[in-house]
Amino acid sequence: MTFRIDRRSLILTGTLGLGAYALPGFAAQGLNWATDGFTHNVASGEPSATSMLLWTRYVAKGDSAKLRVEVSASADFAKVVAGGEAITGPWRDWTSKITVTGLQPGTRYFYRFVAPDGSFSPVGRTKTLPAGNAARFGIAVFSCSNLPYGYFNAYGHAAARDDIDLAVHLGDYIYEYQKGGYAPASGAVGGRWPLPDGEIIHLADYRLRYASYRADPDLAALHAAKPMIVQWDDHESTNDSWEGGAQNHQANEGDWAVRKAAAFQAWREWMPVSDEPWKAYAIGSLATLFRTETRIIGRTKPREAAALIMAPDSAAAIAAFRDGPWQDKAMTMMGWEQEAWLADEMARSVKAGTRWQMVGFGTIMGKTVTPRQATEWIAPDAPERTQRYIKAGVAMAAAGLPMNFDNWGGYPAARARFLSSAQALNANLIVLAGDSHNAWAYDLAQDGKPAGVEFAGQSVSSPGYEGSLKIDPKIVARALVQDNPELKWCDTSNRGYMAVTVTPDSVRNDWMFVDTVLTPSKAARIGHSATVMRGRNVMA
Ligand SMILES: [Fe+2]
Repeated sequence: MTFRIDRRSLILTGTLGLGAYALPGFAAQGLNWATDGFTHNVASGEPSATSMLLWTRYVAKGDSAKLRVEVSASADFAKVVAGGEAITGPWRDWTSKITVTGLQPGTRYFYRFVAPDGSFSPVGRTKTLPAGNAARFGIAVFSCSNLPYGYFNAYGHAAARDDIDLAVHLGDYIYEYQKGGYAPASGAVGGRWPLPDGEIIHLADYRLRYASYRADPDLAALHAAKPMIVQWDDHESTNDSWEGGAQNHQANEGDWAVRKAAAFQAWREWMPVSDEPWKAYAIGSLATLFRTETRIIGRTKPREAAALIMAPDSAAAIAAFRDGPWQDKAMTMMGWEQEAWLADEMARSVKAGTRWQMVGFGTIMGKTVTPRQATEWIAPDAPERTQRYIKAGVAMAAAGLPMNFDNWGGYPAARARFLSSAQALNANLIVLAGDSHNAWAYDLAQDGKPAGVEFAGQSVSSPGYEGSLKIDPKIVARALVQDNPELKWCDTSNRGYMAVTVTPDSVRNDWMFVDTVLTPSKAARIGHSATVMRGRNVMA
């Protein structure tokens, strides 16, 4: 989602209005691409111990082109050890995906595509997953990359690291908004406006938006250096999407089913992903990593609760909501088919003796209420709508209700089912989450007992709370931790990514903070670390 508090900040800073564009003639830096030949570098994904999906885009003069891919253990391609062929054309926006097989586990490879005219794509590097016992595995976890809000320094930093074996993107890889719709009031950082100018609604719009994002040099470098497992959140379709609609889908934008299909198609064309909606990946005996879909296949409509504080007897209305609709067992994030699949696959992973079960979710699972203290954070000149938002959050918190109903906070029965199933299996559960733009560490509990830990990552570039709360982030973090027993640590003012180190007996997460997103930079530091020991399901 675009955090509600961020939407509020848009109103505060007035960027929802038109006219907040970059200066005329201020061209985007480095977001150009060739109109023919290999236009968007290469990418790899869907890793296994013996196979890899390889991606590129090649625009030919004619109506189609047959591409070949070559895989080698050496950069000079002296010996080609795997390969394949595929035909591409305008029906798939000239993108191409070939899955190569027969690779060795835990092995680095080089790959390149060859066009009909003999020209080569840039050379990509990738690495298969380990098989059997592995001592260590490094994962870089990303979410919420917004071109106008800044440079993707997080991608560039992770791309250059030798200790990262795999990239995982938890969603909001692109944003759907029109020019100026969700962007700094002063215009896009570095003139980084993506195409097209309008909100993306139709297939051609989604394709062009991916083309813009994939022209970013840091993102291109990351894809060319690491395999990436990708799942989407809402902005790959539109804000706060669910099975039957979205906050940012209006009737005059056509049929939701058509838009959903367009979003799906462009995503499948442009991302190094298979057609499976959800999938389990075996990282040897170290971990099973689960890619999930929690947006537009099975998610039931989120409940609207904020308006309840306007009711004549708001306390009673909120209590009735809490005791009724909020706990509705029919509310689901994943849909019943995926819930059953995930429970089965987690059981399979545990029974096989796999050390860790790691599940990627688009949105946060840890219980989070608005701190009581938040009313003190309202600026005296804040718009009435802002005051209402914070007061609603505090009123919800007083009744034990969360600050956000678009994440797992709005689906407590589904959360309980998931955590209970992990407990029943004795799983060693690690939830990885994105969406919030801020950094969080939770000990997840169910029925008063530990169920797993959650590492939730800050955005690559999208603004966090610091964009709307003009007070010391340490005060915000302290109040949030104080009022939320599951929350052990948070940071609301840094951008970057998470670097997760998996070993047989422990998993450590480093929240990597980049120095800035306002200029290109390779500087980042570990902002915070947390470790969980196997068998504990709470942080050390
Ligand atoms: Fe999101």
